[in-house]
Amino acid sequence: MSKRNWIYGRNVIITGCSTGIGKELTLQLVKKFGCNVMGVARNQQKLEALKTELGDKFDYRRFDISDESAWRNFSEEMNTMGYEVDVLINNAGMIQDFSQYSDMSMETVNKIVNTNLYSVMYGVAAFLPLIKKSKFGYIVNISSASAILPVAGETIYSATKGAVKAFSESLSQDLAGYGIGVSCVMPGPVKTDLYKTRDAGDGKAKKDYELVESIGITAETAAKRIIKAMRKKKLRVLIDGVARLMDFGMRVAPSLTCKMTGKAMSSATNIVPAFAPIFKEQAEKKEEIGESIKERKALTYNSLKKVPEKGAFSK
Ligand SMILES: NC(=O)c1ccc[n+]([C@@H]2O[C@H](COP(=O)([O-])OP(=O)(O)OC[C@H]3O[C@@H](n4cnc5c(N)ncnc54)[C@H](OP(=O)(O)O)[C@@H]3O)[C@@H](O)[C@H]2O)c1
Repeated sequence: MSKRNWIYGRNVIITGCSTGIGKELTLQLVKKFGCNVMGVARNQQKLEALKTELGDKFDYRRFDISDESAWRNFSEEMNTMGYEVDVLINNAGMIQDFSQYSDMSMETVNKIVNTNLYSVMYGVAAFLPLIKKSKFGYIVNISSASAILPVAGETIYSATKGAVKAFSESLSQDLAGYGIGVSCVMPGPVKTDLYKTRDAGDGKAKKDYELVESIGITAETAAKRIIKAMRKKKLRVLIDGVARLMDFGMRVAPSLTCKMTGKAMSSATNIVPAFAPIFKEQAEKKEEIGESIKERKALTYNSLKKVPEKGAFSK
C-alpha cells in the first residue's frame, strides 16, 4: 500500500460495484489503497456480501443509474451528510444482444443509451459540485474498445461507448482549470458476467462468452490497470492487447480494419453462433431484393448517374 500514491485514502464513488470490473476496483481501492468506497448497483445480496467483507470502508446505495432523479437525490444526500467526494468512477454498463440495428426496438435502444451514456452524464452533473471542492478531484469513465473499433451487431453499445469517449475527452479540457483529471478507459475483452447477460437460456450466447473467456483478461487485472492509469492521471487508457490491436488497425487503415472486422465476424458464425442473427438478416435481404452482392458492387458511378429525369422518388 503506497501512501505516496495520490489515490491513497480517497473517497470514491463507484457504479456497478456488485460484480465484474467494478467489484474488483472496489476491493483493490479499499484493501490496497485504504480508500472509502461508496458503491452503486442494484443487487442487494451482492452489495451486502461486499459490505460484510469490507466493513466500515464500504457503503452502498441501490438505484438504477439511468434514473436522473436518483442521481440527484444521491448527491443531495451526500452533500447533506457532509461527505467529501474525491473520485467518481462511472463503471456500470450493459451490453446489447448481437442484432441488426433494424431489428432492435426503440425501447431497447433507449435502455442501452440511458444506462451506458446518460448515466455517465447524470453522475458527472450530480457530483461535479462536490468533486470541485476536493483537492484530489478525479473522474473515471469506463468506455470500451468498441469506442475505437465498433463491431457488427453492436451499433448502440458501440455508439454509447464512443459518446462516452468523446464526452470524457471534452470534459477533461473543461475541467483542467479546476485541476480535476479525467480518465477514459477502453477495455478489450474482460472475463466478467457482462457477456453472460446475453444468454437467454437457449445456450446460443455460450460460445460468445467462451471466446471472451479464452482471449480476455481477468477483472482483477483490468482493475489493476485502471488504478495504475488513475495514478498517472492518464486520459486515454487502452486495456489490454486486444484493445491496442484494435486501436492500431484503426490508426493505420480505419476503413479496411472496419471492413475486415465485419468480414471476419460474418465468416465466424459457425464458431460464434451469437453472430448469426446479424448476418442471417443480410442473407435474407439479399434474396428479397433479388440482387447478388457482386451485382451491387458492379454498380459504377456511371450507372448511378442514370437517374430518371423526374427524380428517383417520383412515380
Ligand atoms: N467485460 C468486458 O469485456 C468489457 C469490455 C469493455 C468495456 N466494458 C465495460 O466495463 C464496465 C463494467 O463491465 P463488467 O464487464 O464489469 O460488467 P458486469 O460484470 O456485467 O457488471 C456490470 C455492473 O453494472 C451494474 N449495473 C448494470 N446496469 C445497472 C443499472 N441500470 N443501474 C445500476 N447498476 C447497474 C451491475 O450491478 P447490478 O446488476 O447489481 O445492478 C454490475 O455491478 C461496463 O461499462 C462495460 O461496458 C466491459
